[in-house]
Amino acid sequence: MSGPNTDYDPVEVTPLHADEVDRRRDEALAAIAAATSLDALKQVRLAHAGDRSPLALANREIGSLPPQARKQAGMRVGQARSEVRSALDRRLAELEAAAEEQMLVDEVVDVTATLGDPPPGSRHPLTTLQERIGDMFVAMGWEIAEGPEVEAEWLNFDALNLGPDHPARSMQDTFFLDPPEAHLLLRTHTSPVQARALLTRPLPVYVLAPGRVFRTDEPDATHSPVFHQVEGLAVDRGITMAHLKGTLDHFARSMFGADVDTRFRPSYFPFTEPSAEVDLRCFVCLARPPAVDSCRTCKGEGWIEWGGCGVVNPRVLIACGVDPEEFTGFAFGMGIDRTLMFRHGIEDVRDMAEGDVRFTRAFGVDV
Ligand code: PHE
Repeated sequence: MSGPNTDYDPVEVTPLHADEVDRRRDEALAAIAAATSLDALKQVRLAHAGDRSPLALANREIGSLPPQARKQAGMRVGQARSEVRSALDRRLAELEAAAEEQMLVDEVVDVTATLGDPPPGSRHPLTTLQERIGDMFVAMGWEIAEGPEVEAEWLNFDALNLGPDHPARSMQDTFFLDPPEAHLLLRTHTSPVQARALLTRPLPVYVLAPGRVFRTDEPDATHSPVFHQVEGLAVDRGITMAHLKGTLDHFARSMFGADVDTRFRPSYFPFTEPSAEVDLRCFVCLARPPAVDSCRTCKGEGWIEWGGCGVVNPRVLIACGVDPEEFTGFAFGMGIDRTLMFRHGIEDVRDMAEGDVRFTRAFGVDV
């Protein structure tokens, strides 16, 4: 009967040989020291501390040793593995700190950096033109009046001799506001400011009212649901059509130069009588054949509509409490967008509404 294998020499189990364990440990430590990135360290951890690493495999061999040999071998392998583990932890901490530092360098934000000169802003040319027109009339002794964009139906229509059943009421495609019984709308023209001025100001009245107006038009090159008008109203003793013509000619010359040609065309507005439409001679073809025939700007008309005007209808004066026996007046409503287009050769009204700074900047920093 053979006894237990007491003379079994653990040195003979190669992976547990002291030199072998040291060699594996040194290999692991060298690999850890050589790892220069977190990814590389991960690979090193797998290779030298993972389940299939040489030291882990050596550890498994311990069980096959005779009991008296296990303790020493266990200590040897355990010591080596713990050295490897703490080397891994130290290196991990080092590499993490380095990665963080690198991130701070890579993602640094220079809060003192300058962007060069910021591009100068500029005001919208419609605004500056509106103010220029205002200045011109103020220089003639007129006042600037304002009215709301959300307007009472009565002021937009009824006060201007456009009763509920008036056929001309549907000439202006109107945005009505809910609820209908409030009788509010987005003003379709600046003419309600005429009524507001007459109702609130002492006579005589010379007011200019520039502002935004709204109609349910589909936007295209010549239509926009939002555009700008400038309303003028003069009510005094002895005002005639001649005053209107003189004022508009002066207005036109100050906008388009001394050579500008205007013409009055008979027209109809319920709030003026007689009424006229004011046209400007087309600045591209000058209404001369043959250029006029193919002119895109005036569409072959030779003339471009600038706005409407007329002698204030006595019915409007009466609706606003003014005695038509004593006072007469004239009124006009010109398109500001058209004025800008005409002055600067702009061909598409949408350019004025889109807010592209490249369009605005072309007009300079006009303040
Ligand atoms: N309000 C008219 C329009 O928008 C223009 C106009 C104003 C006509 C004043 C006559 C008098 O078409």
